[in-house]
Parts: sequence; C-alpha cells; structure tokens
Amino acid sequence: MRRIYARHKYKEMSIGRKFKAENMLNCIQISRSPKFLLLNGISVWEVCWLAPEQTAGKKKPFVYTQGQAVLNRAFFPCFDTPAVKCKYSALIEVPDGFTAVMSANTWEKRGPNKFFFQMCHPIPSYLIALAIGDLVSAEVGPRSRVWAEPCLIEAAKEEYNGVIEEFLATGEKLFGPYLWGRYDLLFMPPSFPFGGMENPCLTFVTPCLLAGDRSLADVIIHEISHSWFGNLVTNANWGEFWLNEGFTMYAQRRISTVLFGSAYTCLEAATGRALLQQHMDITGKEHPLNKLRVKIEPGVDPDDTYNETPYEKGFCFVSYLAHLVGDQDQFDNFLKAYVNEFKFQSILAEDFLEFYLEYFPELKKKNVESIPGFEFDRWLNTPGWPPYLPDLSPGDLLMKPAEELAQLWVAKELDMKAIEAVAISSWKTYQLVYFLDKILQKSPLPPGNVKTLGETYPKISNSQNAELRLRWGQIVLKNDHQEDFWKVKAFLQSQGKQKYTLPLYHAMMAGSKVAQTLAKETFEATAPQLHSNVVNYVQQIVAPKGN
Ligand code: BES
Ligand code: ZN
Repeated sequence: MRRIYARHKYKEMSIGRKFKAENMLNCIQISRSPKFLLLNGISVWEVCWLAPEQTAGKKKPFVYTQGQAVLNRAFFPCFDTPAVKCKYSALIEVPDGFTAVMSANTWEKRGPNKFFFQMCHPIPSYLIALAIGDLVSAEVGPRSRVWAEPCLIEAAKEEYNGVIEEFLATGEKLFGPYLWGRYDLLFMPPSFPFGGMENPCLTFVTPCLLAGDRSLADVIIHEISHSWFGNLVTNANWGEFWLNEGFTMYAQRRISTVLFGSAYTCLEAATGRALLQQHMDITGKEHPLNKLRVKIEPGVDPDDTYNETPYEKGFCFVSYLAHLVGDQDQFDNFLKAYVNEFKFQSILAEDFLEFYLEYFPELKKKNVESIPGFEFDRWLNTPGWPPYLPDLSPGDLLMKPAEELAQLWVAKELDMKAIEAVAISSWKTYQLVYFLDKILQKSPLPPGNVKTLGETYPKISNSQNAELRLRWGQIVLKNDHQEDFWKVKAFLQSQGKQKYTLPLYHAMMAGSKVAQTLAKETFEATAPQLHSNVVNYVQQIVAPKGN
C-alpha cells in the first residue's frame, strides 16, 4: 500500500492555483475499495482550500471538494466517468480542533484527529466528497443531522428540525426505499457555488438556504430526490445529464405536490419554465446545448455545457411520458419500478425508454415513440422549446394576482390605491419571486416606479432572502436604479452561488457605464472569495477574451 499525504499549511492557504504547500498539517488518505488509491493533495487546486476569512465564522480554515462533473480526477486517481461505480473508504487525519465529514454511510472517530469513512454502496466518482472545518452538528430527525460552523448551527437546526424526515418519507412512498442510511446536511461556507450538491448521505448546501422561514426547502427536496434519480440511477455520461436532473425536477415536484399542494408546486414550476425561456432567448432556441442529449466533444468540460435545458426540458419530457400514461398513480409506480430496475447502475436514455415501453405495452403497441411532433428522438436530439408543456394552471390561484399586481406597476401614473389594496404581506416567497420576475420582464419601468416599488415593499427591497435579493438586484440593474446598486454589491459579497452571481454580472455588463464599473469593482473585491470555476465564468463576462 502506497501512502501519499497532502501537505498543507493553512496560513499560506488561498483558493485556486495559488495554494502553496508547506508544513504538514493535514494528512489525507483516500482509498477506494478494493485497492487503495491515494491522493496527493499538493498540486490539487480543485480541492477548495479556504482561508478563515472565507468562512462564516472567520476563525478557522475550511477545505472541501466538489466532484461534479469532472473535478474529482484532481482529488484522487479514478475512472472519472459516471459510467463507473465503486465503493470507497477513507481515513482522514486533521489538525486539532477540526472535524472531517464525507459522503459515506458510516464514519468513526479513530483517535482525536482521525476519521474513518466507508461507503458500502457503489457510487460514481463525482459523488465522493470531503469537507474539513470547524464543524458541529445537531439532530434534526431520526436519520438526519445538520452540520455547520458553530455560528450557523442554531439557524440550521431551526430551519430544518423535523421537516427533513417528512421529505424523505414522502420520497420513499413515491419512489421506493431510501437506501443510503443517513441523510445529513452540511452548510457550506458562503462561497459554495451551488444551491445544493447531492453527495450521498450528506448533501452540501449553500448557507443562503437559512432564510429563517423554511421558504427555500425546495432545494433540499431537490437534493433528496437525487437519492433515487442520479445517485441510484445515474447518467452514464455527462451528455445524458437530463437523466439526473430532469427526473430529479420531476421527483422534486411530485414530493412538493404531495406536501404543499399543486398550486404552490405549479407556481414554482412556472418560475423554472421562465428560467428556461430566458435561457433559450439568450442562447437562441436552436443552440446545440438546447437538446436534452448533448454531444460533449473531447476536451470540453461538461461544466461548461451546464444550463437550464436538462432541468426544465427534462422535466417536460418526463411530464409528457406521465401524460401519455394518463394516471399519476400508475406513473409513480413506474418510477418506483424504474429505480428498482436500474439502481446502482449507470444508464443511457435508451435504457430508460425501452424500459418505459416494456412497462406500458399498450403504449408500445400505439407506437407512442413516433407520434409526429413528439417523437422520442425529437425530444432527445432536437434543440428548442419542449414540444409538450405540463399544465401549470393549478398555480393560477397564486400567479394571477402576482401578474395583475405587476401590471399595475407598469403604468406611467401609478394607481397607488389599487396597488395598496393588494395585500402581499401574506404572499409566500415564491409568489413574491414570481411577481418580481414579471416586473423584471416588464422592465425598464417608467422613471421613478422602481424607487416607489422599493419604498412600498421594504420587505422585498431590504430582504435578506437570497432569491428575493437576486431578483431585486436584477430589477435595480435593468432599471439603472443607482441608489440601490450597493445592495447588488453587498449581495455578491455575502455569497458566491453561481446561479446568483452570473446573472447579476450579465445584468451589470448589459447596463449603464456606472453599472459596468460596479461589476469591475465588485469582482475585484470578491474574486478571492469565489470558487475558481465561478471566477473564470465571471471573468469571461466582465472582460471577455479579445478585449
Ligand atoms: N447536482 C446539481 C449541482 C451541480 C450540477 C453541480 C452540475 C455541478 C455540476 C444539484 O443537484 C442541483 O441541481 N442544484 C441546484 C438546485 C436547484 C435546481 C433546486 C442548484 O444548485 O441551484
Ligand atoms: Zn440536481
């Protein structure tokens, strides 16, 4: 057995390539069954080493890995393709006062500074994940705890106590047993680039979810849904990413419908559809990335193909297949059978579609795979808008009032009486998000309206909820409402989620000279805190090559 230790002195630590190794402080030994394959962390820049200032508590450093899509090849030697699955175990040695956690179903402390982890089910390399920091935990359910830095643990516990189990139990009813043992949550430092990452047994999430009112639980439901779709049944290559994300969106919305009803879920789905629309408007419908099945050429990083299509067009395709069946219970049972058939395997769309047609012989007899305009081949291989959209009208109850209110804000002469008659104080976060998306679509508003909007709804314009802060920032920029530009900067300084960061930089660069200067200033101030992938993407927006 060979052992290579990662050497690391955190005083010199910074993210990205600048990481410099010196005194041995961390010994990390990663092994994969049945043979040990080991990590040399020294030249590894995809392992994110954070200095104390980059954490929530700002006292101790933090290190974490993000495997998806192809970053784990720089973490340990592996077949870094989702086609290959493998069990793993790991022995992690940490300095005094640090705790290690991993995506594993068992862990034991071996002495004061060593942690031993084992994952007893085969998983693809991208799901192996490690985090080390000043971490504490709290129980939030019979098989769940939250992990976070000490300064966040109370908020994390409050936000999720008792609810995770409900999400898991609903998932199990719909899709079959939860096979991973524990489901824990790790609240990451603010620069974590995703809302959530479905590392098995231990989802990594952004601290932005700590909204104080459980309003952003859809992200947790999404990651829990990956326990069946993605983590049990996995896309065999990154060109089939929709098999992970499209099914997961469908599963997320099934759980959400059962728990919160169809009005709320359709509203959330409408927000997703609007994102798909926005993406297709920007890229052009015919863009080759707007196919469900994407061709990823050699040398192309799958992360660079990331967009809304696999999520929302994927959701539409799965919804279409459910619509062909015509009976929700039957389709739910089919999904359960699908998971059971392909669990712990990696598959292609063909495997799924063949199984679907075998499961529903009457549909096979009707040749549903080649209904003109809705051919399965067209779904997979033609770019553009989904041929079928699920009916979201149960959401009208919540969407119509938001649309009507947005319309009132477009007038040159504001009808404040009519506006004030709408009691938005009872609206849920996603209803406000939907309203703000409508305002954004209608922007720029007549001069002065955004100022009045902000003053009328301080709960929106001064909100600490990340989804609202994103929308408010977008509205502020699209309307060149310079008085509130500082809020955009403050939001971008407070967190580094890619889906929040990139749209705001796009909006700044599409805006006035002042907005463009804000982009450059903000990037300068925040780049050292951001994930290196996000830094690269922002750089391309702020200073595209050739300029
Ligand atoms: N697995 C993804 C995150 C991801 C995708 C990481 C591609 C790296 C490459 C995760 O499940 C996800 O989709 N997260 C979303 C949640 C949302 C759709 C509710 C996110 O982070 O925004
Ligand atoms: Zn996902």
